[in-house]
Amino acid sequence: MNVPFFDLSRAAARIAPELDERWRGLLERTAFVGGPEVAEFERAFADYLGTTACAGVANGTDALVLALRALDLAPGDEVIVPAFTFVATASAVVMAGGRPVFADVEAATLNLDAEEVERRRTERTVGVIGVHLYGRPFDVEGVGEVCRRYGLWLVEDAAQAHGASSHGRRVGRFGDLATWSFYPSKNLGAFGDGGAVTGEDRDRVEKVRLLANHGRAEHYHHVVVGTNSRLDGLQAAVLNCRLPRLERDNERRREIACHYHRGLSDLPGIRLLEDPDGALSVYHQMTIRVPGRRHELREFLASRGIGTGVHYPEALHRQPALLPEDGEPPVLPVAEAAGGEVLCLPVFPELEDREVDAVIAEIRAFPGSTGA
Ligand SMILES: Cc1ncc(COP(=O)(O)O)c(C=O)c1O
Repeated sequence: MNVPFFDLSRAAARIAPELDERWRGLLERTAFVGGPEVAEFERAFADYLGTTACAGVANGTDALVLALRALDLAPGDEVIVPAFTFVATASAVVMAGGRPVFADVEAATLNLDAEEVERRRTERTVGVIGVHLYGRPFDVEGVGEVCRRYGLWLVEDAAQAHGASSHGRRVGRFGDLATWSFYPSKNLGAFGDGGAVTGEDRDRVEKVRLLANHGRAEHYHHVVVGTNSRLDGLQAAVLNCRLPRLERDNERRREIACHYHRGLSDLPGIRLLEDPDGALSVYHQMTIRVPGRRHELREFLASRGIGTGVHYPEALHRQPALLPEDGEPPVLPVAEAAGGEVLCLPVFPELEDREVDAVIAEIRAFPGSTGA
């Protein structure tokens, strides 16, 4: 059986009638940039998170850059970021004028290690970006405690974790600001690019909105130098259709993850990631580790029609674009090993049980996987 890594057409089919109606309304009102769909979504998403304010922006990368600017990042300021995440977490720091300082991740969770944050801190450190990687909350207590001790701000990069929670509280409510991506494959995805910045501090979120709209206080009156990074109405309409379904969709992702755990946990060559204490994951990715044989397993599954992904093949501190000026990257062994071992299996709400069974059966059929 062929099992796709991801199939957006199934999600699109589920919301087509409602989306049709919303899009038709937009065509009549020509409210394409900003407008009522955007306002409705910003309110609904802030309410869903239990936070105060939300500013829609053009994508999750801009959300990070604008959040850093709203936190007054100055040239040369250091920001600690995990070495194992999507490139935007670190490149946003560079684009906002700062310097990313890479910290290693925890071996059990592949999320930012609070002790490493403390170790990498210098007099120039102003803040930390934590990433809820694969939909699993990072150690918000440990990292938050280091931030409080040294007076650092904390940004949550929640691009992969819409609806996840830690100790009963949704991610996005632990940092000074949280940033979101609505790229189509995300748990809450648009049908194009989209993003948002959320937070308790309304003034700071309003500063993001100002920066995202040419620094315009009034029509043709610009109080700061800003950019054009706005959420468009058509994408907000998709998000308005999908947000009420997010809880159920995340529940289905958890069911699928449980199914994988049951089917794979006895295999000696495969390691499953641990969920942090008190965490409720939303499984943006279902990631396994395959030490020494990731590439082989991936090729084997591809030959059987099973789609997989590798998020991410190389840790960020070793990326040419992000090497320090002296060219010598730090040694961060956990992130470096993870790049060679992680394999992401199909997980999306519309995936059927028989498809998950097929993926499990093929992994078990991989020569040597059962240790026999
Ligand atoms: C952890 C993380 N941060 C930031 C981003 C950037 O989001 P976007 O692709 O919407 O710019 C992504 C998205 O892929 C991501 O996974």
